[in-house]
Amino acid sequence: MERLLENKICIITGAAQGIGREIARRFANDGAVVYACDRQEFTSDDAHIHPLVFDITDAATVKAAMMQVFKTEGRIDVLVNNAGVVFNHKIGMIMREETELMFRINVIAVLELIQLVSRLMARNGGGSIVNIASVTAVLGSPGQVAYSATKGAIIAMTKSAAKELAPQGIRVNAVAPGIVKTERFAELYEANGEKIDERISHIALGRLGTPEDIANACSFLSSDRASYISGQILGVDGCASI
Ligand SMILES: NC(=O)c1ccc[n+]([C@@H]2O[C@H](COP(=O)([O-])OP(=O)(O)OC[C@H]3O[C@@H](n4cnc5c(N)ncnc54)[C@H](O)[C@@H]3O)[C@@H](O)[C@H]2O)c1
Repeated sequence: MERLLENKICIITGAAQGIGREIARRFANDGAVVYACDRQEFTSDDAHIHPLVFDITDAATVKAAMMQVFKTEGRIDVLVNNAGVVFNHKIGMIMREETELMFRINVIAVLELIQLVSRLMARNGGGSIVNIASVTAVLGSPGQVAYSATKGAIIAMTKSAAKELAPQGIRVNAVAPGIVKTERFAELYEANGEKIDERISHIALGRLGTPEDIANACSFLSSDRASYISGQILGVDGCASI
């Protein structure tokens, strides 16, 4: 059977755990050569996944790492901007330091990665960029005013970048996950179990998302099967209504 990402050179940020780790596994199983980046040290027993440790807000290190991948592989085909942080507070309790940090990681670093990697993609005729947004940016969510603003910025950035980069053969899309059951979920459920049960009751498909659900969407959007899809925000949220 044809593998969706055969021999594509892919960069995935935030790939040490959670959704990013699953995207890296999915892509490797789909035939990609994966450069999995994270600020945490991590290892992978898959020979097609190469861990790279750096913080995406450190512009000089990011540039050196991307140039090294380009030099080694001769091209970059796919960038998945998955790394992100979340601080949840109700209005009145939102802290400027946390908000600034969220914007630095979730927005500015993504913008800089798009700027840097799109130039490298353009040298080989194009590529695909997938940004991880959130259903909170589309539907809103109490307690997530600052976080959802960062993901709203991702959606806006995706649409404009798609238009600007199309002439260079670069497609830009976003995936907007609903609540995804990652390792962190158990902790979250302990603190907010009732609220989460309430949220699940508003998911038409009746369950939380899995990292695999998100990884499958990213794989499709990164593949040539999506060659006429750009500037889109794909909700992967089980048809959530709030
Ligand atoms: N889990 C969910 O329910 C959910 C829902 C909607 C959107 N998202 C988004 O999906 C993405 C992944 O979420 P997750 O739940 O897997 O998160 P997670 O916290 O489990 O993993 C995020 C990874 O990003 C890395 N990271 C964070 N800041 C970084 C930086 N400055 N440089 C390099 N690496 C950095 C972390 O070390 C971590 O390994 C995030 O963008 C998140 O906002 C998650």
